[in-house]
Amino acid sequence: MAITRKRIGVLTGGGDCPGLNAVIRAVVKTAHNDYGMEVIGFKDGYEGLIENRYMHIDTKSVSGLLSRGGTILGTSNRADPFNFPVLQGDEYVHLDRSSQAVLNFESMGLDALICIGGDGTMNATAGMAAKGIPVIGVPKTIDNDLVGTDVTFGFDSAVVSATEAIDKIHTTAQSHHRVMIVEVMGRYAGWIALHSGIAGGGDIILIPEIPYDIESVCEKIRDRTSQGKNFSIIVVGEGAKPIGGDMVVAKIIENSPEKIRLGGISHQLAAQIEGLTNIECRVTILGHLLRGGAPSAFDRILATRFGVEAVHMVERGDFNQLVVLKNNSLSQVPLESVAGKQRLVECDHPMVKTALSLGVCLGHPENMTLDEYCDSAVLHNKIKFE
Ligand code: F6P
Repeated sequence: MAITRKRIGVLTGGGDCPGLNAVIRAVVKTAHNDYGMEVIGFKDGYEGLIENRYMHIDTKSVSGLLSRGGTILGTSNRADPFNFPVLQGDEYVHLDRSSQAVLNFESMGLDALICIGGDGTMNATAGMAAKGIPVIGVPKTIDNDLVGTDVTFGFDSAVVSATEAIDKIHTTAQSHHRVMIVEVMGRYAGWIALHSGIAGGGDIILIPEIPYDIESVCEKIRDRTSQGKNFSIIVVGEGAKPIGGDMVVAKIIENSPEKIRLGGISHQLAAQIEGLTNIECRVTILGHLLRGGAPSAFDRILATRFGVEAVHMVERGDFNQLVVLKNNSLSQVPLESVAGKQRLVECDHPMVKTALSLGVCLGHPENMTLDEYCDSAVLHNKIKFE
């Protein structure tokens, strides 16, 4: 009796990050070595599944992938199968192409689909699960904002890159006695700013979760000057905003499921600080630099563990789950429990407490505890909830 080999599909969706190729490599090697399964890679995320664009990936084709940034499959942050942009004439219309995706999956004789992505991709993947596709999610994003897992791969590499940049900014800040503002990505979550700010020795760290009081930021700078420290380093998350103010939107991408692109708060901050303190400021926006390049050793290991485990889950039939890391052990959570949610920094998070113990200003007044500040009626009255 002929034994049929299992066939797995794999795709990478959403913004890229270091470690995607390491997952693909681990999936292919485990599928081949442990189970003799075949792997098909869909190109450009769900776009490839809907448009039948794919490639066979064998162990030879993943050689050298571990340390390579980006994704050999390509990715797209517009390819939501339930809201898929299709050009009609000069305009995009959004159509539900999920049934086409199911049809293509079935006609290729696939047994499972491994989707490597962030919140947007997991949302779509939960939807595909509801349509009967046996899916497994693998959590990626530099933002580290997926619920269910302690960490996503890509985050550590982004923190390493941001920290290197902050180290370099430090020396020139010292020479010129300036306030240097380093803006990092992270969308609505301050994980990258908080971690790289601590790793890079930032004096002020501003994150989206704690709207900042500009007077308190300037007070910290003046205080440092009075102690003979004639420079200050501010690390700011792109989603940070002043009390009562708004996040700075850099761009609106009409045909993307997540339309808003943030960026530019650091320029606003620099103008305010110069106006209030008369100290020269300079701005560096790290942007996509944090998404590029080789994965850190931590991310290579995490991505590899996730990829290996995802294939074991296929073999066990543990579908509609996201592979996660909890207390350094691999585990899994139902996809529907993570879809549409975001993991933000909480005011009492241990890393926030670490920053406070170091004397880092998080945008709050010195004479108030962070708890008091976050709870204060003043703040509540002034925060605009969207
Ligand atoms: O989600 C990852 C991320 O890099 C965010 O930190 C950032 O806001 C966004 O993607 C940028 O998206 P794009 O690559 O579409 O400009």
